[in-house]
Amino acid sequence: MTETAPALHEAHPEITEESIARLVRTFYGRAREDDLIGPIFNDAVADWDHHLSQISDFWSSMLLRTGRYDGRPMRPHLRLPLTPAHFDRWLALFEPTAREIFSADVAEAFILRARRIADGFEIGIATTRGEIARPRHSV
Ligand code: HEM
Repeated sequence: MTETAPALHEAHPEITEESIARLVRTFYGRAREDDLIGPIFNDAVADWDHHLSQISDFWSSMLLRTGRYDGRPMRPHLRLPLTPAHFDRWLALFEPTAREIFSADVAEAFILRARRIADGFEIGIATTRGEIARPRHSV
């Protein structure tokens, strides 16, 4: 982090629909090939074009405040056989990808949100299984 970096509550010039699409394409290309999480994606996603554009809309809404995504992101994850190890792997793939595509401060903005959401999903999943979980990645 540098002191002169622009605050990310304002639009950052590096964050565009195009750069978000590149992040999403690159990350899901890697996730699909991954030995642990690849099979879950490949079993569950029927229409990859639709998934990638939905995920791009999701990040666009998060970081550009475009409102392009207004879904319920938790829902599909509750039906998947996900464990904490899957979320660890998801983040282990996402974080270097974000750092390759964006400068350090922008990458951290994506990573911070991804960690919070991963924790939210983990906690939601645990709750539906009658378990108690605490955030592991965002505290
Ligand atoms: C191992 C971890 C994860 C797996 C295996 C996974 C898998 C999936 C699958 C299979 C879907 C449904 C796709 C479809 O039916 O087309 C989905 C949807 C989605 N995922 Fe994940 N996901 C994971 C983690 C995450 C994380 C950490 C985020 C956010 C940072 C995320 C964001 C989303 C969003 C926004 C949707 C679309 C939900 C909707 O509106 O239907 N996922 N994910």
